Amino acid sequence: VKRYDSFSDDLAQRLGSYQAPGPTDSRGPCPGLNTLANHGLINRNGKNLNSSDIKTAFPRAFGIAEDAIETALHNYEVVCEYIKGTTCGTAANDGTFILTNLTILGEPPAFEHDYSYSRQDYRQNWAHGGIADNIYFNSSEMQAGLNVVGYKRSNPPKVATASYQQFNEVRLQRESTQNQNDFPGWFQQNIPPTLFETGFIFGATFDRDSSGTMKESTPMARLDWWNFWFSEESFPTQLGWVPASTEVFNNQFCLSVSSAVLHASVSSTPKSLPAGATATTFPPPANLPEGDPSPTLALFQSPPYAAPTAPTATK
Ligand code: HEM
Ligand code: MN
Repeated sequence: VKRYDSFSDDLAQRLGSYQAPGPTDSRGPCPGLNTLANHGLINRNGKNLNSSDIKTAFPRAFGIAEDAIETALHNYEVVCEYIKGTTCGTAANDGTFILTNLTILGEPPAFEHDYSYSRQDYRQNWAHGGIADNIYFNSSEMQAGLNVVGYKRSNPPKVATASYQQFNEVRLQRESTQNQNDFPGWFQQNIPPTLFETGFIFGATFDRDSSGTMKESTPMARLDWWNFWFSEESFPTQLGWVPASTEVFNNQFCLSVSSAVLHASVSSTPKSLPAGATATTFPPPANLPEGDPSPTLALFQSPPYAAPTAPTATK
Protein backbone atom coordinates (compact mmCIF):
# COMPACT_ATOMS: atom_id res chain seq x y z
CA VAL A 1 0.00 0.00 0.00
CA LYS A 2 1.40 3.33 -1.04
CA ARG A 3 1.39 5.80 1.82
CA TYR A 4 0.73 9.48 1.35
CA ASP A 5 2.22 10.96 4.46
CA SER A 6 3.67 13.97 2.75
CA PHE A 7 2.64 16.46 0.15
CA SER A 8 5.54 15.63 -2.09
CA ASP A 9 3.08 13.99 -4.46
CA ASP A 10 1.39 16.34 -6.82
CA LEU A 11 -2.05 17.01 -5.34
CA ALA A 12 -3.96 16.93 -8.59
CA GLN A 13 -2.47 13.58 -9.45
CA ARG A 14 -3.13 12.32 -5.99
CA LEU A 15 -6.84 13.22 -6.17
CA GLY A 16 -7.53 12.01 -9.71
CA SER A 17 -10.07 13.85 -11.82
CA TYR A 18 -13.78 14.24 -11.30
CA GLN A 19 -16.17 12.68 -13.75
CA ALA A 20 -19.89 12.50 -13.01
CA PRO A 21 -21.24 8.94 -12.79
CA GLY A 22 -23.12 7.63 -15.81
CA PRO A 23 -26.44 5.76 -15.77
CA THR A 24 -24.90 2.31 -15.41
CA ASP A 25 -22.38 3.30 -12.74
CA SER A 26 -23.09 2.18 -9.20
CA ARG A 27 -23.16 4.64 -6.32
CA GLY A 28 -24.38 4.23 -2.77
CA PRO A 29 -24.99 5.79 0.62
CA CYS A 30 -21.31 6.49 1.43
CA PRO A 31 -20.10 9.95 0.41
CA GLY A 32 -16.53 8.75 0.90
CA LEU A 33 -16.70 5.79 -1.48
CA ASN A 34 -18.83 7.69 -4.02
CA THR A 35 -16.19 10.41 -4.14
CA LEU A 36 -13.40 7.89 -4.69
CA ALA A 37 -15.36 6.41 -7.61
CA ASN A 38 -16.15 9.82 -9.12
CA HIS A 39 -12.43 10.57 -9.12
CA GLY A 40 -11.41 7.21 -10.55
CA LEU A 41 -9.47 6.31 -7.40
CA ILE A 42 -11.49 3.10 -7.24
CA ASN A 43 -13.39 1.68 -10.25
CA ARG A 44 -15.43 4.49 -11.76
CA ASN A 45 -18.33 2.13 -12.33
CA GLY A 46 -18.47 1.47 -8.57
CA LYS A 47 -18.48 -2.30 -9.11
CA ASN A 48 -16.28 -5.22 -8.06
CA LEU A 49 -14.25 -3.17 -5.64
CA ASN A 50 -11.34 -4.96 -4.07
CA SER A 51 -10.87 -4.07 -0.42
CA SER A 52 -7.16 -3.54 -1.02
CA ASP A 53 -7.96 -0.88 -3.64
CA ILE A 54 -10.28 0.84 -1.18
CA LYS A 55 -7.56 0.77 1.45
CA THR A 56 -5.10 2.41 -0.92
CA ALA A 57 -7.52 5.00 -2.23
CA PHE A 58 -8.81 6.39 1.07
CA PRO A 59 -5.41 7.43 2.48
CA ARG A 60 -4.44 8.85 -0.89
CA ALA A 61 -7.60 10.92 -1.26
CA PHE A 62 -8.66 11.89 2.24
CA GLY A 63 -5.42 11.45 4.14
CA ILE A 64 -7.23 8.98 6.38
CA ALA A 65 -5.07 6.31 8.01
CA GLU A 66 -5.71 2.70 7.20
CA ASP A 67 -6.83 1.68 10.69
CA ALA A 68 -9.96 3.84 10.48
CA ILE A 69 -10.89 2.31 7.15
CA GLU A 70 -10.44 -1.14 8.67
CA THR A 71 -13.06 -0.27 11.27
CA ALA A 72 -15.68 0.59 8.67
CA LEU A 73 -14.74 -2.23 6.35
CA HIS A 74 -14.61 -4.84 9.07
CA ASN A 75 -17.94 -3.82 10.53
CA TYR A 76 -19.46 -3.84 7.09
CA GLU A 77 -18.21 -7.35 6.39
CA VAL A 78 -19.29 -8.69 9.76
CA VAL A 79 -22.77 -7.21 9.66
CA CYS A 80 -23.38 -7.98 6.02
CA GLU A 81 -22.24 -11.56 6.31
CA TYR A 82 -24.31 -12.07 9.42
CA ILE A 83 -27.43 -10.66 7.84
CA LYS A 84 -27.21 -11.59 4.22
CA GLY A 85 -24.78 -14.43 3.82
CA THR A 86 -22.40 -13.83 0.96
CA THR A 87 -24.53 -11.49 -1.08
CA CYS A 88 -22.60 -8.34 -0.16
CA GLY A 89 -19.32 -9.38 -1.66
CA THR A 90 -17.01 -12.26 -2.32
CA ALA A 91 -13.70 -13.36 -0.88
CA ALA A 92 -10.77 -13.01 -3.25
CA ASN A 93 -8.00 -15.62 -3.40
CA ASP A 94 -5.46 -13.35 -1.74
CA GLY A 95 -7.64 -12.92 1.35
CA THR A 96 -9.04 -9.57 0.30
CA PHE A 97 -12.72 -8.95 -0.16
CA ILE A 98 -14.58 -7.84 -3.26
CA LEU A 99 -17.47 -5.51 -2.69
CA THR A 100 -20.05 -6.29 -5.36
CA ASN A 101 -21.03 -2.68 -5.86
CA LEU A 102 -21.62 0.56 -3.97
CA THR A 103 -25.41 0.49 -4.16
CA ILE A 104 -25.60 -2.75 -2.21
CA LEU A 105 -24.24 -0.84 0.78
CA GLY A 106 -27.61 0.86 1.04
CA GLU A 107 -29.62 -2.31 1.35
CA PRO A 108 -31.29 -2.36 4.71
CA PRO A 109 -31.18 -3.87 7.12
CA ALA A 110 -27.47 -4.42 6.86
CA PHE A 111 -25.01 -1.59 7.12
CA GLU A 112 -27.14 1.36 6.14
CA HIS A 113 -28.87 3.02 9.08
CA ASP A 114 -31.50 5.61 9.82
CA TYR A 115 -30.99 9.32 10.56
CA SER A 116 -28.10 9.79 8.17
CA TYR A 117 -27.09 13.42 7.81
CA SER A 118 -27.66 13.50 4.08
CA ARG A 119 -29.97 10.67 3.19
CA GLN A 120 -33.62 9.94 3.90
CA ASP A 121 -34.70 7.03 6.05
CA TYR A 122 -35.82 3.78 4.55
CA ARG A 123 -39.31 4.03 5.95
CA GLN A 124 -39.61 7.79 6.05
CA ASN A 125 -43.15 9.00 5.36
CA TRP A 126 -44.14 5.61 4.04
CA ALA A 127 -46.51 2.88 5.07
CA HIS A 128 -45.15 -0.39 6.32
CA GLY A 129 -43.55 -2.21 3.43
CA GLY A 130 -42.92 0.98 1.50
CA ILE A 131 -39.48 2.45 1.08
CA ALA A 132 -37.91 5.86 0.61
CA ASP A 133 -34.62 6.64 -1.13
CA ASN A 134 -32.16 5.92 1.64
CA ILE A 135 -29.18 5.67 -0.73
CA TYR A 136 -28.61 8.87 -2.66
CA PHE A 137 -27.76 12.36 -1.49
CA ASN A 138 -30.80 14.37 -0.47
CA SER A 139 -30.30 18.10 -0.56
CA SER A 140 -33.15 19.05 1.75
CA GLU A 141 -32.12 16.48 4.33
CA MET A 142 -28.64 18.01 4.28
CA GLN A 143 -30.02 21.54 4.51
CA ALA A 144 -32.15 20.54 7.51
CA GLY A 145 -28.94 19.65 9.29
CA LEU A 146 -27.21 22.85 8.21
CA ASN A 147 -30.20 24.83 9.48
CA VAL A 148 -29.58 23.53 12.98
CA VAL A 149 -26.26 25.36 12.99
CA GLY A 150 -27.62 28.33 11.05
CA TYR A 151 -25.62 27.72 7.88
CA LYS A 152 -27.12 28.98 4.63
CA ARG A 153 -25.76 27.87 1.31
CA SER A 154 -24.56 30.62 -0.99
CA ASN A 155 -22.33 31.11 -4.00
CA PRO A 156 -19.52 31.51 -3.21
CA PRO A 157 -20.08 29.58 0.01
CA LYS A 158 -19.43 31.26 3.34
CA VAL A 159 -16.55 29.90 5.38
CA ALA A 160 -17.94 28.58 8.66
CA THR A 161 -17.12 25.84 11.13
CA ALA A 162 -19.12 23.63 13.49
CA SER A 163 -18.10 22.26 16.87
CA TYR A 164 -18.70 18.95 18.62
CA GLN A 165 -21.67 20.51 20.37
CA GLN A 166 -23.19 21.70 17.13
CA PHE A 167 -22.83 18.28 15.55
CA ASN A 168 -24.52 16.71 18.55
CA GLU A 169 -27.36 19.18 18.05
CA VAL A 170 -27.61 18.25 14.36
CA ARG A 171 -27.60 14.57 15.23
CA LEU A 172 -30.32 14.94 17.88
CA GLN A 173 -32.47 17.05 15.58
CA ARG A 174 -32.15 14.38 12.90
CA GLU A 175 -33.16 11.68 15.37
CA SER A 176 -36.17 13.68 16.44
CA THR A 177 -37.28 14.22 12.84
CA GLN A 178 -36.89 10.58 12.06
CA ASN A 179 -38.82 9.60 15.15
CA GLN A 180 -41.71 11.75 13.97
CA ASN A 181 -41.64 10.85 10.28
CA ASP A 182 -40.86 7.18 10.11
CA PHE A 183 -43.39 4.42 10.02
CA PRO A 184 -44.39 3.72 13.63
CA GLY A 185 -42.28 1.01 15.17
CA TRP A 186 -39.50 1.28 12.62
CA PHE A 187 -37.22 3.52 14.62
CA GLN A 188 -33.79 2.03 15.27
CA GLN A 189 -31.30 3.71 17.53
CA ASN A 190 -27.88 3.47 15.90
CA ILE A 191 -25.77 6.00 17.70
CA PRO A 192 -22.28 4.40 17.45
CA PRO A 193 -22.11 4.10 13.64
CA THR A 194 -23.65 7.54 13.20
CA LEU A 195 -21.01 8.99 15.46
CA PHE A 196 -18.17 7.09 13.85
CA GLU A 197 -19.27 8.63 10.55
CA THR A 198 -19.31 11.98 12.32
CA GLY A 199 -15.65 11.24 13.07
CA PHE A 200 -15.15 10.76 9.33
CA ILE A 201 -16.77 14.12 8.67
CA PHE A 202 -14.50 15.88 11.18
CA GLY A 203 -11.45 14.06 9.81
CA ALA A 204 -12.24 14.90 6.22
CA THR A 205 -13.21 18.53 6.85
CA PHE A 206 -11.48 19.81 10.00
CA ASP A 207 -10.22 23.35 9.48
CA ARG A 208 -6.64 23.09 8.25
CA ASP A 209 -3.81 24.94 6.65
CA SER A 210 -2.53 24.31 3.15
CA SER A 211 -0.41 21.38 4.33
CA GLY A 212 -3.36 19.58 5.91
CA THR A 213 -2.43 20.43 9.48
CA MET A 214 -5.19 21.30 11.93
CA LYS A 215 -5.55 24.98 12.76
CA GLU A 216 -7.33 24.72 16.10
CA SER A 217 -6.38 22.51 19.03
CA THR A 218 -9.81 20.89 18.76
CA PRO A 219 -11.10 19.93 15.33
CA MET A 220 -13.83 22.13 13.88
CA ALA A 221 -15.70 20.88 10.82
CA ARG A 222 -15.71 23.29 7.90
CA LEU A 223 -19.34 23.51 6.81
CA ASP A 224 -18.55 24.84 3.34
CA TRP A 225 -16.25 21.88 2.72
CA TRP A 226 -18.72 19.40 4.22
CA ASN A 227 -21.56 20.67 2.04
CA PHE A 228 -19.43 20.65 -1.11
CA TRP A 229 -18.08 17.16 -0.47
CA PHE A 230 -21.49 15.63 0.20
CA SER A 231 -23.47 17.41 -2.51
CA GLU A 232 -20.87 17.16 -5.29
CA GLU A 233 -19.31 13.88 -4.15
CA SER A 234 -16.01 15.47 -5.01
CA PHE A 235 -13.13 17.09 -3.11
CA PRO A 236 -13.65 20.74 -2.20
CA THR A 237 -10.24 21.77 -3.53
CA GLN A 238 -11.67 24.92 -5.12
CA LEU A 239 -12.60 26.03 -1.61
CA GLY A 240 -9.05 25.62 -0.36
CA TRP A 241 -9.37 22.04 0.87
CA VAL A 242 -6.46 19.63 0.93
CA PRO A 243 -6.39 16.11 2.42
CA ALA A 244 -5.81 15.79 6.16
CA SER A 245 -2.43 14.75 7.39
CA THR A 246 -2.51 10.98 7.88
CA GLU A 247 -1.07 11.04 11.39
CA VAL A 248 -4.07 13.03 12.56
CA PHE A 249 -6.93 11.36 10.74
CA ASN A 250 -6.80 7.83 12.15
CA ASN A 251 -9.05 5.46 14.05
CA GLN A 252 -8.31 7.08 17.40
CA PHE A 253 -9.23 10.44 15.92
CA CYS A 254 -12.60 9.11 14.72
CA LEU A 255 -13.35 7.41 18.04
CA SER A 256 -12.43 10.43 20.09
CA VAL A 257 -14.57 12.68 17.90
CA SER A 258 -17.42 10.17 18.32
CA SER A 259 -17.04 10.34 22.05
CA ALA A 260 -16.64 14.09 22.24
CA VAL A 261 -19.72 14.71 20.09
CA LEU A 262 -21.71 12.21 22.14
CA HIS A 263 -20.70 13.89 25.40
CA ALA A 264 -21.03 17.47 24.22
CA SER A 265 -23.81 19.13 26.19
CA VAL A 266 -26.35 20.80 23.96
CA SER A 267 -28.09 24.12 24.44
CA SER A 268 -31.54 22.60 23.98
CA THR A 269 -32.90 19.20 23.06
CA PRO A 270 -35.50 18.86 20.31
CA LYS A 271 -38.96 17.57 21.10
CA SER A 272 -40.02 14.02 20.26
CA LEU A 273 -36.63 12.58 20.91
CA PRO A 274 -36.74 8.79 20.91
CA ALA A 275 -35.87 6.94 24.10
CA GLY A 276 -32.16 6.50 24.47
CA ALA A 277 -31.22 9.35 22.13
CA THR A 278 -29.08 11.02 24.75
CA ALA A 279 -27.56 7.81 26.09
CA THR A 280 -23.79 7.85 26.33
CA THR A 281 -23.23 4.15 26.96
CA PHE A 282 -24.53 1.24 24.97
CA PRO A 283 -25.65 -2.22 25.99
CA PRO A 284 -23.65 -5.24 24.85
CA PRO A 285 -24.79 -6.73 21.54
CA ALA A 286 -27.97 -8.74 21.74
CA ASN A 287 -28.77 -11.80 19.67
CA LEU A 288 -30.36 -10.61 16.50
CA PRO A 289 -34.04 -11.40 16.55
CA GLU A 290 -35.78 -12.51 13.38
CA GLY A 291 -38.61 -10.45 12.06
CA ASP A 292 -39.44 -7.01 10.89
CA PRO A 293 -38.39 -4.45 11.81
CA SER A 294 -35.18 -6.17 12.71
CA PRO A 295 -32.79 -4.25 14.98
CA THR A 296 -29.82 -5.67 13.17
CA LEU A 297 -27.50 -2.83 13.97
CA ALA A 298 -27.23 -4.01 17.55
CA LEU A 299 -23.93 -5.45 16.37
CA PHE A 300 -22.62 -1.93 16.13
CA GLN A 301 -22.96 -1.60 19.86
CA SER A 302 -19.89 -3.69 20.44
CA PRO A 303 -16.33 -2.41 19.94
CA PRO A 304 -14.82 -1.09 17.79
CA TYR A 305 -17.91 0.82 16.73
CA ALA A 306 -18.93 1.71 20.27
CA ALA A 307 -17.68 5.12 21.25
CA PRO A 308 -15.34 5.09 24.24
CA THR A 309 -17.09 6.48 27.31
CA ALA A 310 -14.39 8.93 28.31
CA PRO A 311 -13.68 11.74 25.87
CA THR A 312 -10.05 12.13 24.92
CA ALA A 313 -8.46 15.30 23.73
CA THR A 314 -7.82 15.21 20.02
CA LYS A 315 -5.04 16.74 18.06
C1 HEM B 1 -21.94 6.52 5.43
C2 HEM B 1 -19.93 2.37 3.97
C3 HEM B 1 -15.55 4.29 4.69
C4 HEM B 1 -17.59 8.64 5.13
C5 HEM B 1 -21.75 5.22 5.01
C6 HEM B 1 -22.82 4.27 4.83
C7 HEM B 1 -22.27 3.13 4.41
C8 HEM B 1 -20.85 3.32 4.34
C9 HEM B 1 -23.01 1.84 4.11
C10 HEM B 1 -24.31 4.56 5.04
C11 HEM B 1 -24.67 4.69 6.48
C12 HEM B 1 -25.88 5.57 6.60
O1 HEM B 1 -25.70 6.80 6.70
O2 HEM B 1 -26.99 5.05 6.59
C13 HEM B 1 -18.55 2.50 4.12
C14 HEM B 1 -17.59 1.42 4.00
C15 HEM B 1 -16.36 1.97 4.22
C16 HEM B 1 -16.56 3.39 4.46
C17 HEM B 1 -17.93 -0.03 3.71
C18 HEM B 1 -15.02 1.29 4.24
C19 HEM B 1 -14.45 0.85 3.21
C20 HEM B 1 -15.70 5.65 4.82
C21 HEM B 1 -14.63 6.61 4.95
C22 HEM B 1 -15.21 7.84 5.02
C23 HEM B 1 -16.64 7.65 4.98
C24 HEM B 1 -13.15 6.27 5.03
C25 HEM B 1 -14.57 9.20 5.12
C26 HEM B 1 -13.61 9.63 4.40
C27 HEM B 1 -18.92 8.41 5.39
C28 HEM B 1 -19.83 9.39 5.95
C29 HEM B 1 -21.09 8.78 6.05
C30 HEM B 1 -20.92 7.43 5.54
C31 HEM B 1 -19.47 10.79 6.38
C32 HEM B 1 -22.38 9.38 6.61
C33 HEM B 1 -23.26 9.96 5.54
C34 HEM B 1 -24.50 10.60 6.11
O3 HEM B 1 -24.73 10.57 7.32
O4 HEM B 1 -25.28 11.17 5.32
N1 HEM B 1 -20.56 4.62 4.68
N2 HEM B 1 -17.90 3.67 4.37
N3 HEM B 1 -16.90 6.32 4.83
N4 HEM B 1 -19.61 7.24 5.15
FE1 HEM B 1 -18.76 5.50 4.58
MN1 MN C 1 -28.90 6.00 6.18
